[in-house]
Parts: sequence; structure tokens; C-alpha cells
Amino acid sequence: MYDNHGFDSWAPEYDADVSRSDREGEFPFAGYQAVLDKIVDAVLAAGGKRVLDIGFGTGKLACALYETGVEIWGQDYSDQMRRLAGERMPHAHLFGGNFAQGLAQPLLEQRYDAIVSTYALHHLSHEDKLTFLRSLLPLLKDGGAIYVGDISFETAEQMELCRSGAEDWDEEESYFTYEEMKEQFPASDYVPVSYCGGVLIIRQS
Ligand SMILES: C[S@@+](CC[C@H](N)C(=O)[O-])C[C@H]1O[C@@H](n2cnc3c(N)ncnc32)[C@H](O)[C@@H]1O
Repeated sequence: MYDNHGFDSWAPEYDADVSRSDREGEFPFAGYQAVLDKIVDAVLAAGGKRVLDIGFGTGKLACALYETGVEIWGQDYSDQMRRLAGERMPHAHLFGGNFAQGLAQPLLEQRYDAIVSTYALHHLSHEDKLTFLRSLLPLLKDGGAIYVGDISFETAEQMELCRSGAEDWDEEESYFTYEEMKEQFPASDYVPVSYCGGVLIIRQS
């Protein structure tokens, strides 16, 4: 499990490492680019103009939106990730701070067409993830949605199958299944992308 300093150290190599893992179909990043692309396409198709990215990392996802004119707001506790993302998106509103302790005040003062988060929320426990996701719903504009792209599975059975074959499975991280998320968020959908990743879409009910 990384802390903010761990992500600082990883930042310079992060994009190359993740692309290689995705290309080779390795756990946990098999399907990474397709996950990001699905979210970008969905946000743009819905006409998103202002987006909050939680745990934006080097800004790869947010930058694809930023380049089309979308206003980007975000929070990430790694100084080095924020520096790289800031170079890609000089006019984005990027804040530090641990999202386990909540969002920076300026982020709470906006309303968003979409809230996105990729490969970051598995650092929260299952219960904390539910609480955090619920706290985001009031920040959406009418008709907005939350998109969580992450290591995830449709069923517990599929998760167990992946766990048994994955060398890099991290027991300290918390991955979700759609069968458990659907109970908590009835107005949701799940788009599976690879054997270990997909996109959860939560709408206001
Ligand atoms: C695996 S990277 C994912 C980055 C990017 N979203 C992507 O899809 O490539 C996780 C990111 O979340 C950030 N992060 C993890 N836990 C966090 C926390 N509790 N508070 C703020 N940022 C966090 C890390 O600094 C890192 O940039």
C-alpha cells in the first residue's frame, strides 16, 4: 500500500509502468486505457463542462477532458503527481489533501457535471468508500453522474477467481464488486472492461 510519499516516488515512472502493465494484460492495470476512454467518452457524450477528478495522479484522464475545454477540479495528496498533472493542465484547479479526510473546501463549493475517479478509491476500506461516494452525490449538478474506474468485478466469484491467479494482489487494498455496490446505489450501472477492471456509474436517485 502506497502513502503520498510512495506515490511521489512512483510519479515519474507511473505512466510508463501502467501502460506496460495494461499492454501485457497484467493485474492490476489490464484494461486501464479502455477504462479511461470509456469515462472520457461518457462524460463528453453527456455534455460535461465541469468535472471533479479524485486521485487524478499524473492527470491522464482529466487531461483528455481538459483538452476539449472541460473545466477540471481535483484532489490528490501526492505533490509529485500534482506537479505533473499541473504541467499538463496549467489552468486546472488542483488541490492536495487526503480524501480519506474529505475534500478541500474549494472543491466542496462547486457543483459538477461529472465526478470521476480512477484507480484511487481502492485505497479506502469498503465502508469508507460507501460513505465517501454518498458524500459526493450532493456535489453533482442535476443529471450528473459519478464514474469510478477501478480494479473491480461483477461478482464475488469473479473476484475470487482473479485473486487466486494474481501475483500482485494487494490484501491491503479494497476492491469492489458490482453486486455489492448495486445494493447500495440502486441508480447505478457497471461496465466491465477487463478481467480485473471496469467502470461503476452512479446517478442521483
Ligand atoms: C494508482 S494512482 C491513479 C492515478 C490516476 N487516477 C490514474 O487513473 O492513473 C492513485 C492516485 O490517487 C492518489 N491517492 C491515493 N490515495 C489518496 C488519498 N487518500 N488522498 C488523496 N489522494 C490519494 C495518489 O496520490 C495517486 O496519484
